Amino acid sequence: MSLDRIDEYLKEHAGDFEEQLKELIRIPSVSAQPDHDSDTRRAAEFIRDDLARMGMTAEIIPTKRHPIVYAESLGAPGKPTVLIYGHYDVQPPEPLEPWLSPPFEPTVRNGNLYARGATDDKGQMFTHLKAVEAWLKTTGGLPVNVKIIIEGEEEIGGSNLETYVAENPDKLACDYAVISDTSQFAPGKPAITYGLKGLAYFEIHVQGANRDLHSGTYGGAVANPLNALANILDGLKGPDGRIKVEGFYDKVKPLEDWERQAFRDLPFSEEEFRTELGVNEVFGEEGYSTLERKGARPTCDVHGVWGGYSGPGPKTVLPCKAGAKFSFRLVPDQDPVEIERLVRKHIETHTPPGVTVEFISHQGSPAVLVDVDSPGFHAAVKAIEASFGVAPLFIREGGSIPVVGLLKKHLKVDTLLLGWGQNDDNLHGPNEKFSLADFHRGIKASAHLLEELSRTS
Ligand code: BES
Ligand code: ZN
Repeated sequence: MSLDRIDEYLKEHAGDFEEQLKELIRIPSVSAQPDHDSDTRRAAEFIRDDLARMGMTAEIIPTKRHPIVYAESLGAPGKPTVLIYGHYDVQPPEPLEPWLSPPFEPTVRNGNLYARGATDDKGQMFTHLKAVEAWLKTTGGLPVNVKIIIEGEEEIGGSNLETYVAENPDKLACDYAVISDTSQFAPGKPAITYGLKGLAYFEIHVQGANRDLHSGTYGGAVANPLNALANILDGLKGPDGRIKVEGFYDKVKPLEDWERQAFRDLPFSEEEFRTELGVNEVFGEEGYSTLERKGARPTCDVHGVWGGYSGPGPKTVLPCKAGAKFSFRLVPDQDPVEIERLVRKHIETHTPPGVTVEFISHQGSPAVLVDVDSPGFHAAVKAIEASFGVAPLFIREGGSIPVVGLLKKHLKVDTLLLGWGQNDDNLHGPNEKFSLADFHRGIKASAHLLEELSRTS
């Protein structure tokens, strides 16, 4: 039986897969920093070459910013077509100081591979490539038709992938989409994510006087943009964790009773959660549990604030500018365009006198919920069971993967979100990691998934 031979191939090549992943991780493909544009190109080429070597037709599609890799193997007539998506771009590694080993020098400690991109998303994405390789190398073919699209702008919310998907619906047409860019519920508790949050991300620049001033000479007589900024940011969310933007909750679909029960049924210890994070209390919207807040309620967070003096010693400056970045995570059926309008209006009406505010909207994507009772979902459950030895939990997560909404919109397809990561993988932070055991289990699950999906036709 093919699957036995494939499992054998995976065992034999486990070490090679790790070495290849390390090689990909060594390429610092940071999409946000233009200095790394040649590295994003190199990462795309690495993936294209890997796919071509295993026998797929693979190409690099240039875009206005970072290239897309597309590959296909369509030799299974009458069988379903599976579109695998991943991203090769990574978040900036900064701050560098807390890293125990250099971010782009993959290092194994305690069975985990530490490096930027280890889990998000090079390691997770690579599991599908190696599963495809195992099929092609052992049987000379694939049990389903496979299309692979690996982009380089996920971490910057770039729009070039949307253009490509919108312009190529026939080329990308598929029956199932598969993405591994999420997490398991906990170690030993694999999960299929059926809901992700959307995102609306903003930046504001607050301007006061035409130059920095002495806070003794001018303080109290002209507005201080940093104080004004603090007022504005404070006005976004109340002490009860409720967002104060007028109309913000109007379109939020209430959680149904069965779903609240499902959240309660998940094996979760709030005490362990607090201890692991080093906080003495959890905080969030009143009336909802931690898992509901994390996975299914909208949130607002400030990401960065600047202005004035923060160097050593005191400086009595009354600064002339200040700024901040903040975002809202959205849930069904909030519309990011409408949220932008509401937030803009809220800021306009809550700007204190004496300053002006420039409002910049960075990106928006809606939340997604996928059907948990579909042939693809059932196939994924079996594949995960075969590899992890236990049935997956069904969860909603707070992260955003904008392509899921794009695939639904342009290709009318739901995505199977099969996360191999862990919540404490430190994605986007220092010491990002990915468990090598989960890496190999992910490859096996993906190889089995292709077989399971072929049976759905
Ligand atoms: N892999 C994450 C998304 C994710 C994180 C899903 C945690 C589930 C749990 C993805 O690469 C990511 O970080 N996305 C950004 C999207 C944004 C830049 C548009 C995010 O969620 O911040
Ligand atoms: Zn990410």
